[in-house]
Amino acid sequence: MVKICCIGAGYVGGPTMAVIALKCPSIEVVVVDISVNRIAAWNSDQLPIYEPGLDDAVKQCRGKNLFFSTDIEKHVSEADIIFVSVNTPTKTRGLGAGKAADLTYWESAARMIADVSKSDKIVVEKSTVPVKTAEAIEKILTHNSKGINYQILSNPEFLAEGTAMQDLFKPDRVLIGGRETPEGRKAVQALKDVYAHWVPEDRILTTNLWSAELSKLAANAFLAQRISSINAISALCEATGANVSEVAYAVGKDSRIGPKFLNASVGFGGSCFQKDILNLVYISECNGLSVVANYWKQVIQINDYQKNRFVNRVVSSMFNTVSGKKIAVLGFAFKKDTGDTRETPAIDVCKGLLRDKATISIYDPQVTDDQIQRDLATNKFDWDHPVHLQPMSPTAVKQVSIAWDAYEAAKGAHGVCILTEWDEFKELDYRRIYDDMQKPAFVFDGRNVVDPEKLRAIGFIVYAIGKPLDSWLKDLPAVA
Ligand code: NAD
Ligand code: UDX
Repeated sequence: MVKICCIGAGYVGGPTMAVIALKCPSIEVVVVDISVNRIAAWNSDQLPIYEPGLDDAVKQCRGKNLFFSTDIEKHVSEADIIFVSVNTPTKTRGLGAGKAADLTYWESAARMIADVSKSDKIVVEKSTVPVKTAEAIEKILTHNSKGINYQILSNPEFLAEGTAMQDLFKPDRVLIGGRETPEGRKAVQALKDVYAHWVPEDRILTTNLWSAELSKLAANAFLAQRISSINAISALCEATGANVSEVAYAVGKDSRIGPKFLNASVGFGGSCFQKDILNLVYISECNGLSVVANYWKQVIQINDYQKNRFVNRVVSSMFNTVSGKKIAVLGFAFKKDTGDTRETPAIDVCKGLLRDKATISIYDPQVTDDQIQRDLATNKFDWDHPVHLQPMSPTAVKQVSIAWDAYEAAKGAHGVCILTEWDEFKELDYRRIYDDMQKPAFVFDGRNVVDPEKLRAIGFIVYAIGKPLDSWLKDLPAVA
């Protein structure tokens, strides 16, 4: 029986290993982590992450060929294939701070593998890492190898949160990079054999190590760039009377461009896009390619611009001040169908409103009160991963309260900001919300989930990203 051990039981390690276990009954899969709380949650009925379809997959194989453990050294030493899926956040201090990837967790995992291994291993980079990381890992592993043969593979993960299970069941592609030597090719084949249990052969791509590592950064940069492109156009739509949904539809009909990932929004969030672009910027700079670095930096600059623009719209619409006014925030997760708040635009929008002394009532169907308070109380880089199960009693931000539902959040509010595209926000009784709000009542739709005309008919003043402005907003000074 092939034994797989995955180091890191997070958003990637957990779902990916659950799918491998489900699809490969002949393989034993153990997911290990240094976080005792996280492993306890994986072994309980309340999994540490919310992902549609995940509970079911875990229930089907946990205790059979899928295990979660904190006994890291034992399972690493017994494994044939070791996936490393630890977090690789942006460095917050020292050389490259604010841009380079922090490989502390990766390095400590690699050193531990070198320490405890007694047999040959295939070590798979599952985390997103800078190009050439495999070379550094190889040095750590082989420096003290006691005659053990290590093959390093790059197998970046392309799942998106909220759709992780379907992405894993039917991936667009699985990418495996390895050394172009007989041993390297054998290791690539061994990993291919795992995926071949459910992924068609033509979707399993093999490349050299550096192409695989760089493809992951490039893919995320391209995806984020599409969002910044349509968001840049959304500002122009508001200025000219064009409708960003119509423009995106017309542009996306070109088969060379395609329709996906062209939804204008309050800005992209999530743990990957910003981090991976910063990483790409840093690598470009280190290679003396400052023009390339500046090109990618713009993707992040437009994203920051979009979040600021949204806050400015809210404040300027409401007579240039939100001081003491209640604002309802609907949605705090960085996208629907996840409870993850890493880099969510809601943090920046709420902090912007709080700076202007607003009182905020937040409702999100999946994010816990503690998580929201922690996100708003801490500076961007004050926390370390994993954030979600750290025991702490956050000092609540005074002007922030958490509501049980959208109606409670909106009661007595002057404005409603929609910051996550949860389906339930499309179905709300906006007449009821309007009746319970202060007048004039505003809706600021950062995700284009409501029909502005229907809400205007109720009496709301509506701002929706990239949509023609109503007369109230048109008469205000332009927001840059
Ligand atoms: P995460 O923070 O949810 O999980 C990482 C886990 O690794 C944590 O539970 C942490 O305790 C554990 N860990 C850290 N160091 C360890 C060590 N030395 N030994 C054992 N456990 C250790 O992170 P994530 O979202 O799963 O991301 C993991 C990697 O995958 C990152 O490089 C990320 O960029 C990449 N990635 C993430 C996504 C996503 O959607 N979240 C998608 C594709 C790729
Ligand atoms: C992303 C990549 O899609 C995935 O392939 C990679 O493995 C990890 O990073 P994720 O961050 O989980 O996945 O979600 P994604 O669906 O890409 O959304 C990222 C952000 O962009 C979200 O805040 C989302 O709301 C926003 N977005 C997405 C838009 O604003 N408009 C769009 O058209 C699409």
